[in-house]
Amino acid sequence: MTTTHAIEIHGLTKSYGDHAVLKGVDLSVDAGSVLALLGSNGAGKTTAVKILSTLLSADGGTATVNGFDVASDPGKVRESISLTGQFAAVDEVLTGRENLVLVAQLRRHPDAGSVADDLLTRFDLTEAGRKRVATYSGGMRRRLDIAMSLVGDPPVLFLDEPTTGLDPQSRLEVWETVRELAGRGTTVLLTTQYLDEAEQLADRIAVLHEGRLIADGTLAELKQLLPPTTVEYVEKQPTLEDVFLAIVGHDRRHAEESR
Ligand SMILES: Nc1ncnc2c1ncn2[C@@H]1O[C@H](COP(=O)(O)OP(=O)(O)OP(=O)(O)O)[C@@H](O)[C@H]1O
Ligand SMILES: [Mg+2]
Repeated sequence: MTTTHAIEIHGLTKSYGDHAVLKGVDLSVDAGSVLALLGSNGAGKTTAVKILSTLLSADGGTATVNGFDVASDPGKVRESISLTGQFAAVDEVLTGRENLVLVAQLRRHPDAGSVADDLLTRFDLTEAGRKRVATYSGGMRRRLDIAMSLVGDPPVLFLDEPTTGLDPQSRLEVWETVRELAGRGTTVLLTTQYLDEAEQLADRIAVLHEGRLIADGTLAELKQLLPPTTVEYVEKQPTLEDVFLAIVGHDRRHAEESR
């Protein structure tokens, strides 16, 4: 089965006990594009990513990834994806290169060493690759984590909060990595709470709120959701943060006071 949508979700529902987290989510992501899934804490972003990566089954609705149904064809879905969770899954005792070789061997790659070296070059980690991961910065660790998930070159990549907890410099490094992947045609679905991250990286942005997608479009489209421009907006373009707070009905002053 072929589709131009790398990810397609219809009417997806999921509850934990009587807590309905996803209440009918529809979403499609074009092959080769970057989608940012935004939402507050507990909105259900990780739940959605877990369903798409076959770690969790949905209660209702359908989801396909790379043309394969997550419920009826989970093996094919897993062959098509890589998943990088919030906490780097790297072995601190090993060097960066050893981590990569280990993953390539686990995936039964016939030439694990050259797979590792290629990825180190691609992620600008050749020097660092000889050192133990315990000595890495957060950004290097996360880049290595993403590199490890790319062994085998899967067409669809899920990044669950790839830069949470990173300092600004490390965030920029991860952003470069995502741009590099997007440039090669990898479909990326990333979740984030950083609105500037979505602005920087995403072709399209979807906002998950109280179990539903309340917005889905390009940054320019989302900016049009704001009320007609008032004098307040004359000198400064609204940021995605303004749009986000407006559409989730949040009191901006309260948000600024609590910063
Ligand atoms: N295994 C579970 N059992 C019960 N409730 C859960 C479970 N996993 C998640 N939840 C609840 O489901 C809701 C959605 O959680 P989820 O982790 O998907 O949100 P999120 O958008 O990723 O949040 P965050 O931004 O904090 O990572 C939350 O209220 C959470 O407490
Ligand atoms: Mg989460």
